[in-house]
Amino acid sequence: MNGLDPHAYVEDLSPGTGRLRPRAAFTTDLPTITLDGDWSFRLASGLDDLTGDFAAPDFDDTAWDLLAVPSCWQMTGLPGEPRYGAPAYTNILYPFPVDPPRVPRENPTGEYRRAFDVPDGFPASAAVLRFEGVDSAFAVWLNGIRLGDGKGSRLTTEFDASAALRPGRNVLAVRVHQWSSGSYLEDQDMWWLSGIFRSVSVAARGVEDFFVHTAYDHTTRQGTLAVDVTAPTRVSLSVPELGISAADPAGPHVIDGIEPWSDERPRLYTGELVSEAGERIPLRIGFRTVAVVDGVLTVNGRPISLRGVNRHEWHPLTGRTLTEDTMLTDVLLMKQHNINAVRTSHYPPDHRFLDLCDEHGLWVFCEGDLETHGFEPGGWRRNPSDDPAWREAYLDRTARLVERDKNHPSVVVWSLGNESGTGVNLAAAAAWIRWRDDSRLIHYEGDFASCAYVDLYSRMYIGVDELAAVDRGQEAPTADPADDAHRRALPAVLCEYGHAMGTGPGGLSEYQQVIEAHPRLAGGFIWEWIDHGITRTAPINGQEEPRSYYAYGGDFGEEIHDGNFVADGLLFPDRTPSPGLVEYKKVIEPVRIHIDPAAGQISVRNLHHVRDSGYLDCRWTVEDGGEPVGSGGLSVPATAAGATTTLAWPAEVTAALDAARKNDSGDQVWLTVTAVLAADETWAGAGHEIAWGQGLVVAPAASPAPAPPAPAIAHGGYVALGPARFDARTGVLTRLGDLELDGPMLDVWRAPIDNDLLSAFGEAQIGPWLAAGLDRMRHDVLGVEPDASGLTVTARLAAAGSSCGLGVVYRWTACDTPDAAGRTRLRLDAVVTPDGPWSVPLPRLGVAMSLPGTDAEVEWFGPGPGEAYRDSRAAARVGRHLSTVSAMQIPQVRPQENGNRHQVRRARITTPDGTLLISGDPVIDLTVRPWSTEALTAASHQHDLVRDGTLHLHLDHAHHGLGSAACGPGPTAPHVLAAVTTAFGVEFGTGR
Ligand code: GAL
Repeated sequence: MNGLDPHAYVEDLSPGTGRLRPRAAFTTDLPTITLDGDWSFRLASGLDDLTGDFAAPDFDDTAWDLLAVPSCWQMTGLPGEPRYGAPAYTNILYPFPVDPPRVPRENPTGEYRRAFDVPDGFPASAAVLRFEGVDSAFAVWLNGIRLGDGKGSRLTTEFDASAALRPGRNVLAVRVHQWSSGSYLEDQDMWWLSGIFRSVSVAARGVEDFFVHTAYDHTTRQGTLAVDVTAPTRVSLSVPELGISAADPAGPHVIDGIEPWSDERPRLYTGELVSEAGERIPLRIGFRTVAVVDGVLTVNGRPISLRGVNRHEWHPLTGRTLTEDTMLTDVLLMKQHNINAVRTSHYPPDHRFLDLCDEHGLWVFCEGDLETHGFEPGGWRRNPSDDPAWREAYLDRTARLVERDKNHPSVVVWSLGNESGTGVNLAAAAAWIRWRDDSRLIHYEGDFASCAYVDLYSRMYIGVDELAAVDRGQEAPTADPADDAHRRALPAVLCEYGHAMGTGPGGLSEYQQVIEAHPRLAGGFIWEWIDHGITRTAPINGQEEPRSYYAYGGDFGEEIHDGNFVADGLLFPDRTPSPGLVEYKKVIEPVRIHIDPAAGQISVRNLHHVRDSGYLDCRWTVEDGGEPVGSGGLSVPATAAGATTTLAWPAEVTAALDAARKNDSGDQVWLTVTAVLAADETWAGAGHEIAWGQGLVVAPAASPAPAPPAPAIAHGGYVALGPARFDARTGVLTRLGDLELDGPMLDVWRAPIDNDLLSAFGEAQIGPWLAAGLDRMRHDVLGVEPDASGLTVTARLAAAGSSCGLGVVYRWTACDTPDAAGRTRLRLDAVVTPDGPWSVPLPRLGVAMSLPGTDAEVEWFGPGPGEAYRDSRAAARVGRHLSTVSAMQIPQVRPQENGNRHQVRRARITTPDGTLLISGDPVIDLTVRPWSTEALTAASHQHDLVRDGTLHLHLDHAHHGLGSAACGPGPTAPHVLAAVTTAFGVEFGTGR
């Protein structure tokens, strides 16, 4: 406290007063009193509105509210109306004027009180009061005695409670300020939320701290263990499994035949520290050595490849307060999706998350609670990172990061923080880490130019070309050749890439190919793990039942905000995997199965760090037109990490294929090989699929045009062609057999995806698209001409005011005679010819049509079962898939184009009115939805989407790729949909 102003700590630069020195998070058998639960609570509007005597033990708080601890106070009352303030979202900007270290006087302040009993026998004389997370600054009184104050929201703060704690009733009072000087260091891209959001406890203190140092020598298989203990009494170490029972934990103890810790084999040895006073502290010890060898990131002597994600702590109802179950769900979902690394963006997580990473196996980049991005718009003027006045605050945060989490084998890299510019305080933080813990590497992306104080060359959102240049040491040089040489000798990581906002990201396979081709590229972390949507309910369109939706920036009336940029994860807010996660799982599968139909061979390439493939069971299936015609086990010899096994496929496979050939169904025959867990792992059960490969073994010739061709005959207002009727004026197909239809007409527009609308590094795609009028194209029919063998409709698609257009000729042919299966056929051959200088790519190129209905069963043969687009299609496998229109919609937090089924060979859409058959020639992209593109474009949240009684069908020759331009590169050249002359065909039919 500074003299006169009792609230000076809110704005001064000090990280806190009265705190104990930081130490490791650990459990002990000494008693602990948890203070989680209901506390009395009052929200003051600012420092002028505080309750004077609220810390007095006898203060009467009976009129106050009750608030759960831990919780974020703005999340109280949700999914209805927030009760205290409201969540607010900004990405880069501070939601207050930038005038460090000052923050607004109007500073919502939570006053918390909690009475608790200290049982007899509790060692009050050596007690600490522990806060695991309080956002953003707070002061603490125990029984009216001020213990101190603290900042550093996502870091543990402990106070010595021994002088104030007494047996029986105690009263704890805590004042939590939403804004503080610390807020300038906590400008992470996330919701601004406040309060005591992690656990609070009173713990007896015995052993002060300990640091478990381990190393593994892969040449001798020896492990080294040394535990530095700080304690008031002598402490011994025992690790029975290793035969260690030592009076001196520091050893060092050298042990032969160690099984090292890795993400794939997270071997933990159980041990214990026992103090002379009788305190017992369980240990879980993992042996590993992290090193850079010839520019390659290695652990235990072998290269590692990070297949990671950036994880924020998020729950749609509780914000940054997570239960251990939620943490476990995250870890299990990561492991189940082949993810092997996590960057704790951009702060240390609840420490229990790291226990789970140790246990189940994830490489962790553990990041400091630091971001000052909001100084960038001002040219980094007054950035704390380079102002010596903030040095203590930086060093304090760094020490609290390292000290708390230093005993986790999963933590292989310390990350100083994120997007905080560069400067002396970051350099000092790195120097401190090197002094304290030289067993791990140091990461900080902001130092990418000179890499003066980091061990990894880290980049975010660069494209594949630049990534490949990085590996070749040919990325753009700086002014200093010595810096370039130094940087090029470091392992390179993508600390963020594949921005998973909305539909996408596209291009993940391309990144992975480059990463796998270059050992110096240590892999990367997708941005990000989960959408930070907030569950709300709203009465919709006069319906009685309120519907729930996910709120994003702006939904709480924020003065400035960044909209749905907060929803950019691989999981939807309720932790349902998005198509992006399903794609990522396939792209990063740790074994690659390749089928070579010409050679009759299957190869299995093992991309693991250490694990051989013996833990996987392989199976084969042969499908003829999606019908299984044979399957069985495939014995693949255990393949060592880094090796490939190639085998001729077994006789049973050949027999099944021969039978399929003989059957001559006229359909495609595919061989699929899957690799699943042979036995339960801690993170998934036996049978869980890890990898798969597919090969097209029999590819039939394209089906001939309908013959004999039926004539098109004009009858007044309509034209009849075989089973079809067309409007004689518009040329639109109105009926096929018994089915009422409308369309198909050329369509080039899609409900913009986030990657169309936004661009972090250049002009967003949407600008040129809107300028070209692609969202308001008019379809003008120029001719409807029936003839003896079909119908020709000519039209031009163009926007008002534009001289460019797309000419289209629809040639319809049909056959009167049903085929052997009783199906009638109607065929469309469309030729699209650009007219004028088209400089913009097209969002899509295809035809749109509709039929009556609110839902339908959709069955298709082709890639599936999930959504796929040209640059995000690795996860789709060819087969027969069954779904419904409802289930095919992807509930993006902000509605946008979604749900495409890519390269469908044939589909069947069944409504109560009948079945529409569709076949591509040879393939067509298929999207069906119960609302129009216009409605999808106009919707801002899922609850805006209302079925309109029509099924809207898009049959596309192609889409523009997805890319990840919202924050990163757009689609790569092969996935840009240029406006060029294009012909495509599709057949329609009715019946079964
Ligand atoms: C990065 C930043 C992340 C996030 C992302 C965009 O620049 O490090 O925190 O803002 O962009 O979603």
